[in-house]
Amino acid sequence: MKNIDSFGHVRGESLFVDDIITRHDTLFGLVFDSPKAHGKIIHVDYTKAENVAGVIKIFTCKDILGENQIGSIIPDEPLWSEKEVHFIGQPIAFIVAESVDIAKKAKTLITIEIEELPVITTAKEAKEKRSFINAPRTFKMGNTVTSFSNCDYVVEGETFSNGQEHLYIETQGCYAVPMENGNIKITSSTQGPTAVQKTAAKVLGVSMHKIEVDVIRLGGGFGGKEDQATPWAVMAAVAVQHLKKPVKLILDRHDDLRMTGKRHPYDSTFKIGLNSNLKIQAFEVEFLQNSGAATDLSPSIAERTLFHATNSYFVPNVTATIYCCKTNLPPNTAFRGFGGPQGMFVMEAAIAKAADEIGVDKIKIQEANLLTENDTFHYGQIATQVEAQKCWLSAKEKFELQKIEKEVENFNRTTSNFKKGLSLMPVTFGISFTNTAMNHARALIHIYQDGSVGVSTGAVEMGQSVNTKMLQVASKTLGIHPSKVKLETTNTTRVANTSASAASSTADLNGKAVLKACTSLIKRLSKVASSNLSVAEKSITFKEDTVFVDGKKSALAWEEIVNQAMLARVSLSENAHYATPVIHFDKTKEKGHPFAYHVYGTAITTVTVDCLRGTYEFDSVKIVHDFGKSMNIGIDLGQVEGALAQGIGWMTMEEISYNKKGQLESNALSTYKIPDIFSVPKNVEVIPLETKGNEMAILKSKAVGEPPLMYGIGAYFAIQNAVKAFNKNYQPKFHAPFTPEKVLFGLYEK
Ligand code: MTE
Ligand code: HPA
Ligand code: MOS
Repeated sequence: MKNIDSFGHVRGESLFVDDIITRHDTLFGLVFDSPKAHGKIIHVDYTKAENVAGVIKIFTCKDILGENQIGSIIPDEPLWSEKEVHFIGQPIAFIVAESVDIAKKAKTLITIEIEELPVITTAKEAKEKRSFINAPRTFKMGNTVTSFSNCDYVVEGETFSNGQEHLYIETQGCYAVPMENGNIKITSSTQGPTAVQKTAAKVLGVSMHKIEVDVIRLGGGFGGKEDQATPWAVMAAVAVQHLKKPVKLILDRHDDLRMTGKRHPYDSTFKIGLNSNLKIQAFEVEFLQNSGAATDLSPSIAERTLFHATNSYFVPNVTATIYCCKTNLPPNTAFRGFGGPQGMFVMEAAIAKAADEIGVDKIKIQEANLLTENDTFHYGQIATQVEAQKCWLSAKEKFELQKIEKEVENFNRTTSNFKKGLSLMPVTFGISFTNTAMNHARALIHIYQDGSVGVSTGAVEMGQSVNTKMLQVASKTLGIHPSKVKLETTNTTRVANTSASAASSTADLNGKAVLKACTSLIKRLSKVASSNLSVAEKSITFKEDTVFVDGKKSALAWEEIVNQAMLARVSLSENAHYATPVIHFDKTKEKGHPFAYHVYGTAITTVTVDCLRGTYEFDSVKIVHDFGKSMNIGIDLGQVEGALAQGIGWMTMEEISYNKKGQLESNALSTYKIPDIFSVPKNVEVIPLETKGNEMAILKSKAVGEPPLMYGIGAYFAIQNAVKAFNKNYQPKFHAPFTPEKVLFGLYEK
């Protein structure tokens, strides 16, 4: 089945926040933000700005009737700064005017005096100055110290992986409208409608039921709208509370790039110990996460880094520590993979460095250490239904790795100005929110009396096609044609207290709730059919818009049974709740069973480096991926391809740059390059792993949103191998992204 949004999207008919028809009295907001990365606010003069014709009001912290606080995990983030600023782009005031142009003019007339304080931009500096968000955490298994002393090889090193800009096509935005009795309706481009509702209520000093949040769809989120869609919605809501008029706020691209957080950069150090049989015995790693100026989701992201610190490998002795380092950058936030990619990059770097020092192929070490059934992860979960080796071996076989290796070898022997590099990248990614309490969802299903169906869930559609999957679950379970089912907007009045759509778990959690609700409805309708047809209830099934009895089509159509249920006063609506069973985690011991299951896969990447220019092209990425039993292979392949491109972008060309003053230098698409049609691999092949699937996944169709991003890590090591093939003196560094500039330096390093 095609994505139900595809026609609307290509015709430009799909609605986003900025497409909503606004009320005639709508006002427009613009954020006034800090021009300095750290300092005390001495004075702000709004007089001139306030006097601009068409400016209605400039809001500051003084106008907040509730709490000036938007931090979710730790309350450390004001909506509007009062006395201090901690990053460039930190909101200080909110200009509301009759038009955006008027607000922009007014903004230029605000003057601010800031007493500057020292600025920290890197995690290393923050650690030196003991500037942390919270206490460090360590996951431990076995004893690395004694194990290292017994290892044949011990290798140490350091890595850096830079941040990444989400670059959702639709920037952050919202439209808030006053309703009756002080109620406010906010349409927001958020992954977390409840987060917006809860925070707006807190800041406005009202109860949550006064705030309704509606989400139509997002023009991309990628984690950037899990937490960071909230402030804009709350600002607009504060203005509505005071002015009793609708307020719209859409960030322009520059404001969005400057004010919002990105993927966390990590500085890391590692020590890896192996035996002569290439088995990894011990791994120690210390991650310095550049968290930015406030907590945001950093501790949860740090936690996932620890979970994925050994990627796809079994390591009997592990000590992994992470520091959330507080710096003067915009608070960094969720980004596809949620800290997992940063952890896996270090593990792959450690293996690559060990391979170099031992003098074996990295692939040999990788293969010798892949997870197998009943291995224990360092966080205590026992690995079951493990597909790591199966993915790896079938990738090698199906894509004829030996042939590819020969081709690369031949090419490199016979060509001097171009070199090819090859890498294998296995991925193991845990599915569930790392915070167990967040793993729940609800669905509300209405069968209307004409037989058509409306489905509401807590799932937010952001391009990942979760609405299509929800529709498939409903239509399959009810046995009706997809055209009879409509996916409603995501709205806090229909489905409340939701977790954000994130952790790749949206389809699993909400889909299971849809399945449960539809199953209850079918039970009810079966009862009606059983009495009307005078047959046993258990002989009845629903298929092809018809009631079936003992597998045979009856004359009773879906519409008719719905009508009969209506006449019999049977409820045609159902609300269901799903909470992932089995999972748990004890933070006092850092052990448990946090994930419903894992997703596995292996990517084979080949690249050709132009050794005169330092530029490169990816010949192919060939992947065996564990979809379980994919419920929609078109959508799932789209997720793999998109995530792969995004992962390659992070590893190769997307270079976030802040100067020492905390100013974003890569502040436009001219200075921040994301993959385009010319830079994605020429050939991407994805073969689904043959597998039974997993019961914990919706219809055995495994979560797919984030795991394939980490195949992109293979790109780094493929390029590195090409550089090594050209320059024997090259000392491998693990400093991502591997931009053409760095490649060129590597090629000619003495
Ligand atoms: N795909 C598109 N097209 N747009 C997005 O914003 N977000 C990714 C992934 N795929 C995203 C996407 C991220 S970060 C996550 S967590 C998942 O989708 C969320 O959706 P899911 O839980 O339904 O997989
Ligand atoms: N993934 C994504 N978002 C989250 C998570 C997670 O594991 N935990 C809390 N928010
Ligand atoms: Mo995705 S980073 O969990 O929104």
